Amino acid sequence: EGVRIFCPATIANISCGFDVLGVALDSVGDEMTLRKTDTPGIRITKIIGQEIPLETEQNVAGVAALALLGECDFSGGIEIEIEKKIKPGSGIGSSAASAAGAAFGLNLLLGNPFNRHQLVRFAMQGEKLASGVAHADNVAPALLGGFTLVRSYDPLDVIKLNTPEQLYATIIHPQIEVKTADSRKILKTGISLKDGIRQWGNVGGLIAGLYTEDYDLISRSLEDHIVEPIRSMLIPGYDDLKGAAVKAGALGVGISGSGPSVFALSKGSAKAREVADAFRSAYSVVGVPFEIHVSKI
Ligand code: HSE
Repeated sequence: EGVRIFCPATIANISCGFDVLGVALDSVGDEMTLRKTDTPGIRITKIIGQEIPLETEQNVAGVAALALLGECDFSGGIEIEIEKKIKPGSGIGSSAASAAGAAFGLNLLLGNPFNRHQLVRFAMQGEKLASGVAHADNVAPALLGGFTLVRSYDPLDVIKLNTPEQLYATIIHPQIEVKTADSRKILKTGISLKDGIRQWGNVGGLIAGLYTEDYDLISRSLEDHIVEPIRSMLIPGYDDLKGAAVKAGALGVGISGSGPSVFALSKGSAKAREVADAFRSAYSVVGVPFEIHVSKI
């Protein structure tokens, strides 16, 4: 008895929504197979595509699965096989895809004892292992689909938002690794009232824009004056990428999660592909190898 599932890549933060906003990508992600076995416990039997620890307690999928099993009375065993297509440290939710996938797949295999919102908490345990912080802005969209908002962490309150029909993401992944734990350490712990006002104005604007499908409002709201100025220093050529995508007509550009991937949102797939071309030509002079994805969101 087994299930095979798609585990989507995700863009966290989405400019103004540090640690609270995220969105899932339709066509970029990993695949995972989960099977019941007679040997009790969780075993990660194979990981294709990346060098990642197989020990259950050292693996984000293993930790998320253990968290779920800890709250139900299943006494059999589970084997997990992961086909990793999202590179760890890329900034498009590699650990979240594994953690959310394990929670979702295991729940499915056990006959859905939990709803999708309840699975977020289990998947967050995987994020804690990966980055030291149990943030939910990648696992929530991976589990619920589309855009999500973490309204509150304590108590956990995750809200699925509207996803406008014509939104597409273009993502460029410079092939350098930025660890989320490291790129969190460089952030300041305090913000000024002035920056706060700008940021929550934009978060509200972005959410209003998502519901009214007002692409101009979405575009005006894709701003971040708090985290982007600091983290962009870790991404060679960031300003050139941003300038090129905006010039090509993207609605907005930001750092995907903790980087180094940079995302642009566009209205329509044709525009998203033009933005991909703009990213490609802007980055070919930077001298860092890169990969580009275009996906509906
Ligand atoms: N919100 C998290 C961060 C996402 O930016 O650190 C990490 O993917």
